Amino acid sequence: MSARRRQFDADEIIVASHNTGKISEIGDLLAPYGVQSVGADALGLPEPEETGADFIANAELKAHAAARATGRPALADDSGLAVDALDGAPGIYSARWAQKPDGTRDFDFAMHKIEMALGQKPDAPRTAHFICALSLAWPDGHAESFEGRVDGTLVWPMRGKNGFGYDPIFLPLGGDLTFGEMAPDTKHAISHRADAFAQLVAGCFSG
Ligand code: IMP
Repeated sequence: MSARRRQFDADEIIVASHNTGKISEIGDLLAPYGVQSVGADALGLPEPEETGADFIANAELKAHAAARATGRPALADDSGLAVDALDGAPGIYSARWAQKPDGTRDFDFAMHKIEMALGQKPDAPRTAHFICALSLAWPDGHAESFEGRVDGTLVWPMRGKNGFGYDPIFLPLGGDLTFGEMAPDTKHAISHRADAFAQLVAGCFSG
Protein backbone atom coordinates (compact mmCIF):
# COMPACT_ATOMS: atom_id res chain seq x y z
CA MET A 1 0.00 0.00 0.00
CA SER A 2 1.32 3.48 -0.86
CA ALA A 3 2.16 6.02 1.85
CA ARG A 4 -0.54 8.47 2.85
CA ARG A 5 -0.23 11.76 1.00
CA ARG A 6 -0.21 15.10 2.79
CA GLN A 7 -3.72 16.57 2.72
CA PHE A 8 -4.47 20.01 1.37
CA ASP A 9 -6.36 21.94 4.05
CA ALA A 10 -6.05 25.60 3.01
CA ASP A 11 -8.82 27.54 1.27
CA GLU A 12 -6.59 29.07 -1.40
CA ILE A 13 -4.08 27.59 -3.83
CA ILE A 14 -1.55 29.35 -6.05
CA VAL A 15 -1.65 27.99 -9.60
CA ALA A 16 1.94 28.30 -10.79
CA SER A 17 1.13 29.06 -14.42
CA HIS A 18 0.90 32.12 -16.61
CA ASN A 19 -1.50 30.40 -19.01
CA THR A 20 -4.97 31.84 -18.31
CA GLY A 21 -6.72 28.83 -19.89
CA LYS A 22 -4.86 26.47 -17.59
CA ILE A 23 -5.52 28.62 -14.51
CA SER A 24 -9.26 28.74 -15.12
CA GLU A 25 -9.42 25.00 -15.95
CA ILE A 26 -7.64 24.16 -12.68
CA GLY A 27 -9.88 26.64 -10.84
CA ASP A 28 -12.98 24.81 -12.12
CA LEU A 29 -11.58 21.43 -11.13
CA LEU A 30 -10.74 22.48 -7.57
CA ALA A 31 -13.79 24.70 -6.88
CA PRO A 32 -15.90 21.71 -5.70
CA TYR A 33 -13.37 21.21 -2.87
CA GLY A 34 -13.94 24.74 -1.57
CA VAL A 35 -10.56 25.89 -2.90
CA GLN A 36 -10.05 29.30 -4.48
CA SER A 37 -7.38 29.32 -7.23
CA VAL A 38 -5.08 32.31 -7.76
CA GLY A 39 -2.90 32.49 -10.87
CA ALA A 40 0.82 33.18 -10.58
CA ASP A 41 0.52 35.94 -13.17
CA ALA A 42 -1.96 37.87 -11.00
CA LEU A 43 0.71 37.91 -8.27
CA GLY A 44 3.48 38.96 -10.64
CA LEU A 45 5.53 35.83 -9.93
CA PRO A 46 8.41 35.13 -12.31
CA GLU A 47 8.35 31.96 -14.45
CA PRO A 48 11.27 29.76 -13.41
CA GLU A 49 13.32 28.07 -16.12
CA GLU A 50 12.24 24.47 -16.73
CA THR A 51 15.59 22.78 -16.16
CA GLY A 52 14.28 19.45 -14.80
CA ALA A 53 15.20 16.11 -16.39
CA ASP A 54 11.59 14.88 -16.51
CA PHE A 55 7.98 16.05 -16.25
CA ILE A 56 7.74 15.59 -12.47
CA ALA A 57 10.99 17.49 -11.86
CA ASN A 58 9.74 20.43 -13.94
CA ALA A 59 6.33 20.48 -12.23
CA GLU A 60 8.05 20.34 -8.82
CA LEU A 61 10.47 23.16 -9.52
CA LYS A 62 7.62 25.43 -10.67
CA ALA A 63 5.43 24.50 -7.66
CA HIS A 64 8.29 24.96 -5.14
CA ALA A 65 9.23 28.35 -6.62
CA ALA A 66 5.65 29.64 -6.33
CA ALA A 67 5.15 28.21 -2.81
CA ARG A 68 8.42 29.74 -1.61
CA ALA A 69 7.66 33.14 -3.17
CA THR A 70 4.11 33.38 -1.76
CA GLY A 71 4.31 31.42 1.49
CA ARG A 72 1.23 29.49 0.33
CA PRO A 73 0.63 26.03 -1.18
CA ALA A 74 1.10 26.03 -4.95
CA LEU A 75 0.16 23.68 -7.77
CA ALA A 76 2.09 23.36 -11.04
CA ASP A 77 1.90 21.06 -14.04
CA ASP A 78 4.15 19.98 -16.86
CA SER A 79 3.01 17.97 -19.83
CA GLY A 80 3.95 16.76 -23.26
CA LEU A 81 3.94 14.04 -25.88
CA ALA A 82 6.36 11.11 -25.79
CA VAL A 83 6.85 9.08 -29.00
CA ASP A 84 8.22 5.59 -28.38
CA ALA A 85 10.13 5.28 -31.68
CA LEU A 86 11.81 8.63 -30.96
CA ASP A 87 13.03 7.52 -27.52
CA GLY A 88 10.37 9.61 -25.80
CA ALA A 89 10.89 12.82 -27.81
CA PRO A 90 9.64 15.51 -27.92
CA GLY A 91 8.83 14.78 -24.24
CA ILE A 92 9.68 17.65 -21.91
CA TYR A 93 10.64 19.64 -25.02
CA SER A 94 7.12 19.39 -26.55
CA ALA A 95 6.58 23.15 -26.54
CA ARG A 96 10.13 23.81 -27.75
CA TRP A 97 9.67 21.53 -30.79
CA ALA A 98 7.07 24.02 -32.02
CA GLN A 99 9.52 26.93 -31.91
CA LYS A 100 10.34 28.19 -35.41
CA PRO A 101 13.63 29.93 -36.27
CA ASP A 102 11.82 33.31 -36.13
CA GLY A 103 10.78 32.61 -32.54
CA THR A 104 7.07 32.00 -33.22
CA ARG A 105 5.35 28.79 -32.06
CA ASP A 106 3.70 26.55 -34.63
CA PHE A 107 2.43 23.06 -33.81
CA ASP A 108 1.84 22.17 -37.48
CA PHE A 109 5.61 22.61 -37.81
CA ALA A 110 6.21 20.40 -34.72
CA MET A 111 3.88 17.67 -36.00
CA HIS A 112 5.61 17.67 -39.39
CA LYS A 113 8.93 17.32 -37.56
CA ILE A 114 7.65 14.23 -35.73
CA GLU A 115 6.30 12.74 -38.96
CA MET A 116 9.63 13.35 -40.72
CA ALA A 117 11.52 11.64 -37.88
CA LEU A 118 9.11 8.68 -37.98
CA GLY A 119 9.56 8.54 -41.77
CA GLN A 120 13.22 7.64 -41.11
CA LYS A 121 12.00 4.55 -39.22
CA PRO A 122 9.22 3.10 -41.38
CA ASP A 123 9.18 -0.21 -39.48
CA ALA A 124 9.03 1.34 -36.02
CA PRO A 125 5.75 1.33 -34.06
CA ARG A 126 3.76 4.58 -34.10
CA THR A 127 2.84 4.34 -30.42
CA ALA A 128 2.98 7.42 -28.21
CA HIS A 129 1.59 8.76 -24.96
CA PHE A 130 0.75 12.09 -23.43
CA ILE A 131 2.04 12.69 -19.90
CA CYS A 132 0.84 15.25 -17.38
CA ALA A 133 2.75 15.74 -14.13
CA LEU A 134 1.10 17.68 -11.32
CA SER A 135 2.96 18.83 -8.24
CA LEU A 136 1.46 20.38 -5.12
CA ALA A 137 4.13 22.09 -3.01
CA TRP A 138 3.95 23.65 0.45
CA PRO A 139 6.08 26.57 1.69
CA ASP A 140 7.93 24.20 4.08
CA GLY A 141 9.43 22.41 1.06
CA HIS A 142 7.17 19.34 1.07
CA ALA A 143 5.62 18.27 -2.26
CA GLU A 144 3.18 15.64 -3.45
CA SER A 145 3.46 14.77 -7.15
CA PHE A 146 1.43 12.67 -9.56
CA GLU A 147 1.85 11.55 -13.17
CA GLY A 148 -1.13 10.97 -15.47
CA ARG A 149 -0.90 9.28 -18.84
CA VAL A 150 -2.95 8.41 -21.91
CA ASP A 151 -1.69 5.92 -24.50
CA GLY A 152 -2.34 6.00 -28.23
CA THR A 153 -0.88 5.95 -31.74
CA LEU A 154 0.06 8.72 -34.13
CA VAL A 155 -1.91 9.21 -37.34
CA TRP A 156 -0.91 11.10 -40.48
CA PRO A 157 -2.17 13.37 -41.94
CA MET A 158 -3.47 15.49 -39.07
CA ARG A 159 -7.15 15.11 -38.26
CA GLY A 160 -9.43 17.64 -36.55
CA LYS A 161 -9.35 21.25 -35.44
CA ASN A 162 -10.31 20.86 -31.79
CA GLY A 163 -7.93 21.01 -28.86
CA PHE A 164 -4.39 22.33 -29.15
CA GLY A 165 -0.77 21.29 -29.58
CA TYR A 166 -0.35 17.73 -30.86
CA ASP A 167 -4.06 16.78 -30.61
CA PRO A 168 -4.64 16.34 -34.40
CA ILE A 169 -2.18 13.42 -34.67
CA PHE A 170 -3.02 11.62 -31.42
CA LEU A 171 -5.45 8.70 -31.62
CA PRO A 172 -6.12 7.37 -28.12
CA LEU A 173 -6.01 3.59 -27.70
CA GLY A 174 -9.26 1.91 -28.69
CA GLY A 175 -10.79 5.06 -30.23
CA ASP A 176 -11.69 6.15 -33.76
CA LEU A 177 -11.30 9.90 -33.30
CA THR A 178 -8.10 11.85 -32.70
CA PHE A 179 -7.98 14.29 -29.77
CA GLY A 180 -8.31 16.97 -32.47
CA GLU A 181 -11.60 15.48 -33.71
CA MET A 182 -13.15 14.77 -30.31
CA ALA A 183 -15.56 17.01 -28.47
CA PRO A 184 -13.55 18.75 -25.73
CA ASP A 185 -15.56 17.07 -22.93
CA THR A 186 -14.78 13.64 -24.37
CA LYS A 187 -11.06 14.41 -24.44
CA HIS A 188 -11.14 15.90 -20.94
CA ALA A 189 -12.69 12.71 -19.56
CA ILE A 190 -9.85 10.46 -20.75
CA SER A 191 -6.82 12.72 -21.02
CA HIS A 192 -3.48 12.54 -19.23
CA ARG A 193 -4.55 15.73 -17.38
CA ALA A 194 -7.79 14.08 -16.18
CA ASP A 195 -5.76 11.07 -14.97
CA ALA A 196 -3.29 13.28 -13.07
CA PHE A 197 -6.10 15.35 -11.51
CA ALA A 198 -8.00 12.24 -10.42
CA GLN A 199 -4.83 11.04 -8.67
CA LEU A 200 -4.26 14.47 -7.07
CA VAL A 201 -7.83 14.70 -5.78
CA ALA A 202 -7.79 11.11 -4.48
CA GLY A 203 -4.40 11.69 -2.86
CA CYS A 204 -4.64 15.19 -1.34
CA PHE A 205 -8.24 16.45 -1.46
CA SER A 206 -10.26 13.56 -0.08
CA GLY A 207 -9.72 14.34 3.56
P1 IMP B 1 3.44 22.76 -20.85
O1 IMP B 1 2.97 21.66 -19.98
O2 IMP B 1 2.57 23.99 -20.71
O3 IMP B 1 4.91 23.02 -20.73
O4 IMP B 1 3.17 22.35 -22.37
C1 IMP B 1 3.82 21.31 -22.97
C2 IMP B 1 3.42 21.11 -24.42
O5 IMP B 1 2.96 19.76 -24.54
C3 IMP B 1 2.26 21.93 -24.90
O6 IMP B 1 2.67 23.14 -25.46
C4 IMP B 1 1.66 21.03 -25.98
O7 IMP B 1 2.36 21.15 -27.14
C5 IMP B 1 1.95 19.65 -25.48
N1 IMP B 1 0.74 19.12 -24.86
C6 IMP B 1 0.51 18.95 -23.54
N2 IMP B 1 -0.73 18.49 -23.33
C7 IMP B 1 -1.29 18.38 -24.55
C8 IMP B 1 -2.60 17.97 -24.99
O8 IMP B 1 -3.51 17.63 -24.21
N3 IMP B 1 -2.79 17.99 -26.32
C9 IMP B 1 -1.85 18.37 -27.21
N4 IMP B 1 -0.65 18.77 -26.87
C10 IMP B 1 -0.36 18.78 -25.53
